[in-house]
Amino acid sequence: MPQVRCALCRRSSLGESVLSTTRDADRVDAELQKAAATPLRETSESERRGFYREHGVLLCDGTSLESVAEAVGTPAYLYSVGEIQAQYARLSAALSGVPHRIHYSVKANSNLAILGILRALGSGVDIVSGGEMYRAQSAGFKGRDIVFSGVGKTEREMTEALTLGVLMINVESEEELARWDEVAGRMGRKAAVALRVNPEVMVDTPHPYTRTGVKGMKFGIPFDETLVVARRALGMKNISLIGLDMHVGSQISQFEPYEIGLGRLLQLKNEITEAGATELEYLDIGGGLAVSYDEEHPVDVEGFGAVVERLVGPTGLKVIVEPGRYLVGNAGVLLTRVLYRKRSGGKQFVIVDAGMNDLIRPSHYNAYHRIEAVRPSGGKITADIVGPVCESGDFLGLHRDVDDAKPGDLIAVRSAGAYGFVMASNYNSRPRISEVLIERGRFGVVTEREQYSDLVRKERLEPEWKKVT
Ligand code: LLP
Repeated sequence: MPQVRCALCRRSSLGESVLSTTRDADRVDAELQKAAATPLRETSESERRGFYREHGVLLCDGTSLESVAEAVGTPAYLYSVGEIQAQYARLSAALSGVPHRIHYSVKANSNLAILGILRALGSGVDIVSGGEMYRAQSAGFKGRDIVFSGVGKTEREMTEALTLGVLMINVESEEELARWDEVAGRMGRKAAVALRVNPEVMVDTPHPYTRTGVKGMKFGIPFDETLVVARRALGMKNISLIGLDMHVGSQISQFEPYEIGLGRLLQLKNEITEAGATELEYLDIGGGLAVSYDEEHPVDVEGFGAVVERLVGPTGLKVIVEPGRYLVGNAGVLLTRVLYRKRSGGKQFVIVDAGMNDLIRPSHYNAYHRIEAVRPSGGKITADIVGPVCESGDFLGLHRDVDDAKPGDLIAVRSAGAYGFVMASNYNSRPRISEVLIERGRFGVVTEREQYSDLVRKERLEPEWKKVT
């Protein structure tokens, strides 16, 4: 299945967008043409942010990727601090017309250092597990900085969240709501909840696995049941109903799903207020903002901000957004080295030292990541770029026109900052790789490469047998 191409060219099943119309496409095309016509000149300060080329060689934030590879080895994930900061600033500015807070979705990249960067920028977090709560706390986030989402929260996680005093809990079902009431009552506390509504919007995400706000999904409370659940919440002693929440999907490049979803949430807000709610304060509109993986235009966040301002502004509600990919996706690459070249069945293979266990997106979602030599030789080939894992599904790219990279050459798999390392595994007993931050000409390891000993650290050759009583 093709992935994430041509965002503005593709029309969602909802038809023409109100804001992302062909006028936007024309504007972007005009900008691209203007950029192409601009004569070559020295790279400016702002262009030295993120990943860019100088004299044909791929660099990051003024730093040589070759030197970093030399120092830390390959494969490794490399992240640009400047790119994360720039994305955060752009989104925050786009939402400046409404009271808002960005709650970074930890699942996209949960490295402590990444969390630290976002905290310093003023971000809160959106978490989906006790483990993410632990990470958030370890990075210095306080209870008020945390929104707790997720479809299957355990009692242990509930107790931890209430002890910490999280800002808001996004509740996904009537049964979950009753459990919060019970746990909070036992602890003598009140649980501040938002109802996560399934707005039942058809979304055009690149892969069905990243759709969530569609009818019949496991996520959220079905739209037509929300009012009933809200009435129940209002009658519960240990529950404060402070918000409504939605998350329509991931890698969404158009506004319609947000616009329609927001419209539904606001309709519900009015009905719930009529039913007696007095504490509604937050509208959490989820994450999902798209980035550019290939040549497609990324989401127009300024246009997105305008939609939010137009719809939510008059209500006086505070907006929460939960972006993950938008903030970190293009701030990362997976740096890998070519091990071998090989031909089979008339095909060329480039075998690299990173595999599906390090980056599962190509194999799992058929996701497209640009694959580029750090120092291109000038030649091009058509090849499958594959890893060392013993699976035919172990690939980073299939049938791709790529640089003619030879054994020893460095390859960057682009846009790997989100859902890269966090989805890595030890399959084939491959130690998980290092993560490195890069900032203005310097680099620092923020996750050490695992050793072989780490692979068996939690295991026992012989069990400690226990008798069943
Ligand atoms: N909020 C909620 C409730 C979510 O479930 C998600 C993502 C986000 C926010 C952040 O979405 P983002 O802004 O990053 O699109 N592993 C997949 C993506 C799964 C997304 C799951 N939920 C991938 O590699 O594309």
